[in-house]
Amino acid sequence: MSEALTPAARPRVVALAVQKGGTGKTTLAASLAVAAAQAGERVSALDLDPQGSLAGWAALRRSNDLLVDRISPWEMTQLPDILDQLGEEGCSLAILDTAGTATSGIAPALKLADLVVIPIRPSRLDLMAAQPTIRAMAAQGMRDRVALVLNQCPPAPSPRTGLYADQLRALGVLAEPAMIQRVDHQDALALGVGVSEYAPGGLAAAEIRTLWSWIDRRLRSG
Ligand SMILES: Nc1ncnc2c1ncn2[C@@H]1O[C@H](COP(=O)(O)OP(=O)(O)OP(=O)(O)O)[C@@H](O)[C@H]1O
Ligand SMILES: [Mg+2]
Repeated sequence: MSEALTPAARPRVVALAVQKGGTGKTTLAASLAVAAAQAGERVSALDLDPQGSLAGWAALRRSNDLLVDRISPWEMTQLPDILDQLGEEGCSLAILDTAGTATSGIAPALKLADLVVIPIRPSRLDLMAAQPTIRAMAAQGMRDRVALVLNQCPPAPSPRTGLYADQLRALGVLAEPAMIQRVDHQDALALGVGVSEYAPGGLAAAEIRTLWSWIDRRLRSG
C-alpha cells in the first residue's frame, strides 16, 4: 500500500521590513537568525535587499549553521516555492531581510510573513515611515501580523523611548524589549556573527534572545 505523501510544513516566516533605511532591519535579522538557531530552530535567512548587506554578513561567517541566500527582485514571485523547498529541507524558520525602499517592492514577502517586524528608532519620522508597511499589511487583512520594535534606543532611560513604548504597547503592536544602541551590534556585524555569539554574556545578547523569545511566543499564539 502506498503511503500518502504529506507536504513538508513551510517554515515560519518572519520579515524585517520598513520603508526607511538604517533603522536596523539587517542588524536585527542577523542576530535574530543566530539567536533563533541557538534556541534550536533550523534557520534560513533570505536577503531580499539588492544591497546584499545580510549576504555580506553571512560571507564573513565561519560556521555553516545558518543557510543564507540572496533573492533577487525578479525571483520574488518564486518566494512561495522557495519557502516550500526550504520546508522540505527541514528549515523551521525563515528570516527575511528586506530593502528599506517602497513597500510595493516587497509585497510578496509581506504577504507570506507570519510576522512582520518593523524596527524603528524612537523618533517621529521613523514612526511615520512605519505607516506604509502597516497599511500594506492591513490591506491584506494581516494587521495583526505586525509588530514594531524600538531599536537604537538611548542607553540611559529616556522619556521619549518610554512614551513610544507605552503608545505602541497600548495598540498591541510592541515587540519587546526595546533594543538599546550598543556597540556589540556593530562589532558583531563586522565579524559575521550575531551578538549572542560575539558576547554571549553581554546586554545586547540578552536583549536579542529576549526579543527572539517574544517573537517565538507571538508566532505560536497565532
Ligand atoms: N541596536 C543597535 N545598536 C547599535 N547599532 C545599531 C543597532 N541597530 C542598528 N545599528 C547600526 O545602525 C546602522 C544601520 O543598521 P542596518 O544596516 O541594520 O539598518 P537597515 O534597516 O538594514 O538599513 P537598510 O534599509 O539600508 O538596509 C548599522 O551601522 C548598524 O550596525
Ligand atoms: Mg539592511
